[in-house]
Amino acid sequence: MKANIACVLLALAVSSAAAQQLKATQADPCQAKGKMAADVTYCDRYWECIDGAAEQFDCPNGLVFAGRARGLLENCDYPWRGDSCEGKQLANTPVSVGPCDWKYGIFGHESSCIRYWTCWNSTATEQFCIGGLLYNEEKHACDWPEAVEGCQKHPLCKDDANGNVPLGKSCNRYWACQGGYPRLQRCPATLVFDKRSLRCTNPPTEDCEAPPPPPPEDDPNAPAGPAFVEEEEPAAPAPLV
Ligand SMILES: *[C@@H]1O[C@H](CO)[C@@H](O)[C@H](O)[C@H]1NC(C)=O
Repeated sequence: MKANIACVLLALAVSSAAAQQLKATQADPCQAKGKMAADVTYCDRYWECIDGAAEQFDCPNGLVFAGRARGLLENCDYPWRGDSCEGKQLANTPVSVGPCDWKYGIFGHESSCIRYWTCWNSTATEQFCIGGLLYNEEKHACDWPEAVEGCQKHPLCKDDANGNVPLGKSCNRYWACQGGYPRLQRCPATLVFDKRSLRCTNPPTEDCEAPPPPPPEDDPNAPAGPAFVEEEEPAAPAPLV
């Protein structure tokens, strides 16, 4: 019995030593397909076979090895696009300039949820999310507001980040909040905005009569000019961004 246990322990020791040795072995790029091999320890480093000898390269700052002729630049790509850093470390430290945490990358804005920065060789370019989307730091991309935690909200939308808000005395316009950001909306032609249900409904409502019908088309005797005067365009709320 004792001998058996010793055998098992010995076998375990041998296999774990073998595993460790396997893990610590750097693949030879000259033996590899494509003459390139990922570094065994660091995901932002790789080896290339040049004139029969293994030569070490580091990815551009902020990028990690993706494979020969793959990725954005010099065989490297954004770390979140692949899993090459799983279980590995970074060899390089961030070179941070202005809003760029690394020379290459996509970074959140200091004060805005709809803006972000793309950095290329430490040159920052400001980008904007459109269509009510917000920048999602985890995805490094614009995303639906519901998916983006912790963004500052506009006061108009403080009660319901995705609700409707009446616009003064207007009968056909209102604010639609999307993820805390208000957008100016207009009810479909025959409907009016009901301040109680916060929806476009059939008139009349408490405050709104039916909108006057549009002048008949192709009627040469129709009075010139609009049948009713449009309200003035309200000023957009000052963005907090
Ligand atoms: C990055 O910028 C530096 C300094 O402006 C410049 O010397 C270098 O050539 C640039 N590198 C690339 C890959 O564009």
